[in-house]
This record gives sequence, C-alpha cells and structure tokens, in this order.
Amino acid sequence: MTLPSMLRVGPLTLSPPVILAPMAGVTTLVMRRSCERAGAGATFTEMISSAAAFRSVPSALAMFERGLPGKPYAVQIVGADPHEMGYTAHLAASRGVEWIDINMGCPAKDIIRSGSGVALMRDPERAAAIVRAVRASAPDTIPVTVKIRAGWDEASLNAPGFARRMVDAGACAVTVHGRTRAQVFTGRSNPEHIAAVVRAVDVPVIANGDVDSAEAAVSLLQRTGAAGVMIGRASWGNPWLFAACRAAFLGEPAPLPPDAAARFAAMRATFAEILDSQPDRPAELKLTEIQKTLAWMSSSLPGGRVFRNAVFRAPDPAAVRALVDELERAQPI
Ligand SMILES: Cc1cc2nc3c(=O)[nH]c(=O)nc-3n(C[C@H](O)[C@H](O)[C@H](O)COP(=O)(O)O)c2cc1C
Repeated sequence: MTLPSMLRVGPLTLSPPVILAPMAGVTTLVMRRSCERAGAGATFTEMISSAAAFRSVPSALAMFERGLPGKPYAVQIVGADPHEMGYTAHLAASRGVEWIDINMGCPAKDIIRSGSGVALMRDPERAAAIVRAVRASAPDTIPVTVKIRAGWDEASLNAPGFARRMVDAGACAVTVHGRTRAQVFTGRSNPEHIAAVVRAVDVPVIANGDVDSAEAAVSLLQRTGAAGVMIGRASWGNPWLFAACRAAFLGEPAPLPPDAAARFAAMRATFAEILDSQPDRPAELKLTEIQKTLAWMSSSLPGGRVFRNAVFRAPDPAAVRALVDELERAQPI
C-alpha cells in the first residue's frame, strides 16, 4: 500500500499526515513549535476551556497563539454548553485561528462532571448541538473537527454511530483514540475500534493511540485505513519522532537518531525559547515547563535519572542551566 504524503482538512494541507496530539499541560507554544520544526504535519493546542474563554481569562486566550508561520494548527476547545462553545469558536476565528477541534474524549473526572469531554459520547444530542453551534459561529473556511474515544466502556462502543452524527452536524474530520473512557490510559488502544469509524464515515479519520515510532505510525494507518495519525505521549521530549515519521511518509531516508550533542543543543534552545516567548506568562509556569521538558529530553542520556531528580528541585532557570552544564560535562566522550 502506498502511504499518503498528505491529508486535507478543509482548506488545510497537512504533510506529512502526522499530527501532534492535544495534551493539557504539554502542548504549549514552544512544544508545538519544536514539533513543527521537526516535521509534524500539524499540531493541536492544549484543550481550552470554553468557560474560561467566555470570561476572557488571559491564560485561555493566550493558548490560541499560532506556532510557526505557515504550519497548520488546531485550537482544541472543551465545554458542554453550545452557546459558550459557539462563542469560543467565534472568538477563536476573530483571532485568526484556522482550525477548531472539539474535545469529546477527555476522561478527567472534573471534565466529565461538567458534562464535557468524553461525557458527550453519552449525550449525542448535546454533542451534535455543540458541533452545530461551533460550525455556525465560525466562517466556512475554518474546518471544525471532533476528537473522540472508542466509547464509554466495552459495553458501549458507540464511536462509529456517534462519529456519523457529528459529521452530519458539521464535523469535517474525526480523530479517534482507540481506548474507551473506562480504560483512561491503561491497556492498549484498539485499532479495530478506529477502523470501525473509518468504515462508518465519509470524512478523513485520524487514528490515535500508542504510536511511538515511525513504524508504528505507518502500521496504525495501514491497519485502520485512516487518513492520518496522531501522536501524544511518545512526543514528550522527542520532537525527532516527527522527523522520522516525515521521512517514512514522504519516502525519504530515515534520519539518524539525535546524538548527545544534538540533544544538548535542543535542550539549550528549548530552555531559551521558553524563557523568551510569551512575556506575560508567569515565571513559575515557565520554570515548570523548562523542568518537565528538559527532564524528558535527557531521559535517554547517561546520568539522565539523577539530572531529572535534581532539575525538579532547581529553584530558578539559572540553577537549571548549571545542571545542564554539569550533565553535559559528565557525558562519556
Ligand atoms: C498529559 C495528557 C494530557 C492530555 N490532554 C488532552 C487534551 O487536552 N485534549 C484531548 O483531546 N486529549 C488529551 N489527551 C489525550 C491525547 O491527546 C491522546 O489522545 C492520548 O494520549 C493517546 O495518544 P498516545 O497514546 O499517542 O499518547 C491528553 C493525554 C495526556 C497524556
């Protein structure tokens, strides 16, 4: 089977058809940019609460920001109220957002309690009303998509019928994570559940769950018949995964994995970019992002575990920088 080199979502062209997943607390502006640079075909923001956007909370509005110019990105919104969700879509459109995705897969307790995220898969009426409200509130040129799970639990694997309803309501693509709500992040994502949605709808389906290599991305696409693949956890501290996927989908030679020098260069560049971007962002949030990101990026280096323990105790960026220098000096030649 020939691999697709691109995927169209509305007027947007994603090449390769490999996308960085939305992840709260992870897919920050800097994370998205580094995956875009490495070769992701598109990226998703963290989920943005429509209740917060509705009240113009600055941290929610800041998440609308584009990564690199010219790189497709989706703003993901979450909520249970069609009116608030419609308003958020309108706000996003007025701020230049080019793609809006609706979260119908988050299993977090507080999200479910509010009737949003994967709770919407048990309330298709409301879910469809949300898609219609979002669709009606943004210009036709802005694609509206949904991200769902396989279902609530093994006894209610309703993704195919549910996806069809969302498409009828106005969604022009569907991402499916092949786990149920009951699984949260345990067990395995089941490609069969994704393939069932591919068979049920006539819009592009993006397959998601447990992709941790270019080979796994290719295999998930082939097994499900999906039009694209989305990668979540395996991207943590590993933008190079998108370079490998890009090569695989575009038929280019596989890039060499990064050596220690490339990892240190990337760690320092990320450190500087987090500090320098978004001047209004609180310093403690920037420090946490630096700590998390550098801990992930160092995980495969000798001494990475000791570094990780120390970096989370570092009181400020200067202390983190000193730890990076120390780790680099300790590398075997
Ligand atoms: C820390 C974390 C945060 C997440 N936040 C979101 C989110 O904001 N919106 C969403 O639709 N999914 C969210 N997800 C789910 C991922 O987008 C993805 O569906 C899931 O991790 C499965 O893909 P993976 O196996 O490649 O990680 C989150 C997952 C994790 C681990």
